[in-house]
Amino acid sequence: MMQELRSQQWFDRKGKDGFIYRAWMKNQGIPDDEFRGKPVIGICNTWSELTPCNAHFRELAESIKRGVIEAGGLPVEFPVMSLGETLMKPTAMLYRNLVSMDVEESIRANPLDGVVLMCGCDKTTPALVMGACSVDLPSIVVSGGPMLTGKYRGRDIGTADVWRFSEANRIKMMSDDEFRTAEACMARSRGHCAVMGTASTMACMVESLGLSLPENGAIPAADSRRKVLAQLSGRRIVEMVKEDLKLSDILTREAFENAITVNAAIGGSTNFVIHLMAIAARIGVTLSMEDFNTALKGIPLMANLQPSGKYFMEDFFYAGGLPALMKELNELLNRETITVAGKPISANYENAECFNRDVISTMEDPFDKIAGIIVLKGNLCENGAVLKASAASPALMRHTGKAVVFEDIDDYKARIDDPSLDVDKDSILVLKNVGPKGYPGMPEVGNMAIPKKLLEQGIADMVRISDGRMSGTGFGTVVLHISPEAAVGGTFAIVQDGDVIQLDCFAGTLELKLTDPEIAERKQRLPVRETTIGRGYTHLYQSHVEQAHLGADLDFLKGGSGNRVTKDSH
Ligand code: FES
Repeated sequence: MMQELRSQQWFDRKGKDGFIYRAWMKNQGIPDDEFRGKPVIGICNTWSELTPCNAHFRELAESIKRGVIEAGGLPVEFPVMSLGETLMKPTAMLYRNLVSMDVEESIRANPLDGVVLMCGCDKTTPALVMGACSVDLPSIVVSGGPMLTGKYRGRDIGTADVWRFSEANRIKMMSDDEFRTAEACMARSRGHCAVMGTASTMACMVESLGLSLPENGAIPAADSRRKVLAQLSGRRIVEMVKEDLKLSDILTREAFENAITVNAAIGGSTNFVIHLMAIAARIGVTLSMEDFNTALKGIPLMANLQPSGKYFMEDFFYAGGLPALMKELNELLNRETITVAGKPISANYENAECFNRDVISTMEDPFDKIAGIIVLKGNLCENGAVLKASAASPALMRHTGKAVVFEDIDDYKARIDDPSLDVDKDSILVLKNVGPKGYPGMPEVGNMAIPKKLLEQGIADMVRISDGRMSGTGFGTVVLHISPEAAVGGTFAIVQDGDVIQLDCFAGTLELKLTDPEIAERKQRLPVRETTIGRGYTHLYQSHVEQAHLGADLDFLKGGSGNRVTKDSH
């Protein structure tokens, strides 16, 4: 029998309070019997025309509502701040934690029994899941889906081509007119980036964690089956409320391990590390950087998707999507973890089929034997750093070179194309002060563009190191998330031009070739760098943000406060 609904604390109330709670809902034309014993389902919507990837969400919400009503619930849609990766400045990551607060407080403060989280563009997924974890009501994720594959001059294109096109445009291999034409050809439908960038990585993350119904990861936004998934999710959340199936029942340590394994096999974004770490800390599961060190542990690259491979999310869906890939991975997964469907995760994929082995490989014949994240340790990153194995050049994964140092992003922009810059193909580009506190907000600038004079020589990749992040659509031999970051006085802060840095992905090390006394002496001489602590939210963020290896959440947001409203009066 269903336990008393949380929403009844509002709508079954007698006297003045009950009158107020019901009356101001009735002004929307809702009949009286809608409030009697029906699960009230919040639809947490990140729709915004300033988040183009989520601009279709009001329509998608209608499908969710239909499902909720069919199953006997009352749907109530509410907006939260949205995070558009392309337009927000200085970086959407600065606001991920703010949105998580919005989501958490919106859910807890209102008469909700369950929640549907509508996620799409990169940061909207972790922000909503983090916030919902801190309340821990029954919750299900519906992602918006990827765009259709871009088409340009007879060939398929996607977001990863933005980097290629802009490099070609910089050295006049692509005209300005061609560049502009390609814009419309790439983003030709609703949905988020069409490659295995961060948004698709996040959509696959929620599916592999068990937070969505199967196929959430890959159904294109424009495909009518995305609406079907939304409607079925609307039905399912009502049942989840009746079963009292909460996020903490689903998000076990084993579920996180599954997500990490799947992320390696799909060639997911490095941003996965920082977001999953933050989600785990909200729900009370302990993860360490070592848990993410999958690249050399026998999980192969099984999805031939850009930016690591050739194809697009649309192709992934037609080939069988995440269920087909997870079926191949079966032996490496914790098969008994429970999903939002109330069944073991193996039920998501046991009947799946692969329809294109050029897109989804078998375990025995993968696209690459090395996949996933390499976690680096060494004196340059005492708390760790990450590198995406499938995006790196094999020849550079063991490399020693002299540092060419940029103190911050302005310094980098001012000098990268200076013909007199002392740099060659073996140099290592170092970009400081783009970490969580230093920038602030840890922007996606880690895959710095190659100096123009080297590009003109045909150099396509170099080792690049920063305390920032990289777009999930980026590629190259790029070391990211250096912790501690330069702005908090990590060893990274003392690197100078000409210092020798040794990267060894196979040993998992990143070393600055200086002795300990030399490092200590330089740290003592380190000039105090003026870090302006802004006002408002930026002040809060800079005062409380944690380092990358902990998930870059605000320190006081870890864990949760449950769904109880402590003070109850009007
Ligand atoms: Fe929104 Fe790429 S810009 S997912």
